[in-house]
Amino acid sequence: MNMYNIILKKREGKALTKEEIDFFIGGYTKGDIPDYQVSALLMAIYFQKMNHEETYNLTNAMKYSGEVIDLSPINGVKVDKHSTGGVGDKTTLIAAPIAAACGVPIAKMSGRGLGFTGGTIDKLESIAGFRTALSKDDFIDNVNKIGLSIISQTEELATADKKLYALRDVTATVENISLISSSIMSKKLALGSDAIVLDVKCGSGAFMKNFQDAYDLAKVMVDIGKADGKKTIALITNMDQPLGRAVGNSLEVIEALDTLKNQGPDDITQLALVLSGYMIYAGGKSATPHGGRDMALNALESGRALEKFKELIEVQGGDSKIIDDYSLFPQSSYIKEVYALSEGYINSIDTELIGMASLNVGAGRKRKEDAIDLSSGIVLNKKAGDYVEKGSQIATVYGSIKNIVDEVAKQLEKAFNIENSFKEPSKLILSVID
Ligand code: URA
Repeated sequence: MNMYNIILKKREGKALTKEEIDFFIGGYTKGDIPDYQVSALLMAIYFQKMNHEETYNLTNAMKYSGEVIDLSPINGVKVDKHSTGGVGDKTTLIAAPIAAACGVPIAKMSGRGLGFTGGTIDKLESIAGFRTALSKDDFIDNVNKIGLSIISQTEELATADKKLYALRDVTATVENISLISSSIMSKKLALGSDAIVLDVKCGSGAFMKNFQDAYDLAKVMVDIGKADGKKTIALITNMDQPLGRAVGNSLEVIEALDTLKNQGPDDITQLALVLSGYMIYAGGKSATPHGGRDMALNALESGRALEKFKELIEVQGGDSKIIDDYSLFPQSSYIKEVYALSEGYINSIDTELIGMASLNVGAGRKRKEDAIDLSSGIVLNKKAGDYVEKGSQIATVYGSIKNIVDEVAKQLEKAFNIENSFKEPSKLILSVID
């Protein structure tokens, strides 16, 4: 068996066998197969796709490419949550402390930004001192201590995914149902939580642009989770505009903190409540998702969720003074306003363009070794459905390099589609699959 023939077979649209998939994942994990051959295979998979059996075999090969973690030292039903990736999606920072405050143990490994979407780990690193690389024992101890820990994916967990994720990010091979589902589910299964709540994003700021693709992705992931004996629920949620107003690492953590203080934007608050409601239900703390949402609302309104987030910061070495003093976040040196080019209703927002603009201003990576400017990003002053006058402020760009900030502000003018008649923005939760 050799890699050339595997690439050729997939390029011609044929299904790969379990042995061929195991060969490619095993060889890439060990460093025996170079990035350029894997890039070619990823592109062939992107165009020719994989069937259900190949996707299942790929997920398992990736799951066993590293360590499979035993979370049994943690009492209770451990619930994991994962988003397929969006723009301004800071839901984990809100939903995880809410669910933990309701007694659901959350042992979560999160990722970094991918393509035009952000990642929870990059966001958390904008809190000075916050350690995302903990040992497995510290991770488990923290969950036993405070009911919550969020760490970055270790080299040992789904090792193949860590390498593939970074390679896909820079080879335009992210948006494929088999590659996304195997990437997400291999990590979820290797981590060993008892239940998984998936937030499958759909729309102009998601990898899945239309409902059918998002539904297919959700269904594949739910089937893989169930085949592994885990309670798995997927929500398909709207990503036709950024969630909340902030896009970019520290800007998003500030917005998540505002939300935990009951002062956040309505869309992110509602989504976090519904998702944490499902997490509470999946964790057996409520008989229904609706009852879970009521418990979530109580945890939010009472301040218990904010308190849990504070405990999380402290237990992972961060400075919790940041909760009350946002000046402790990294600060941008250049700020530029973006103004509406015409008058009317904002009927749609090119959310991928906003994600790319945020990446261009420094909040994401263009190459896998790039460092991130944690202070940079975009704040939307107006959202879909809003009426704007010509020349009124619609967004603000934050960054460190003046000419890049100016350039990104120019790009952003085109992200807002302003029309004469009003169009109702699409709803937030599109479907639930369980
Ligand atoms: N999130 C992941 O973990 N993997 C993907 O491929 C996309 C989003």
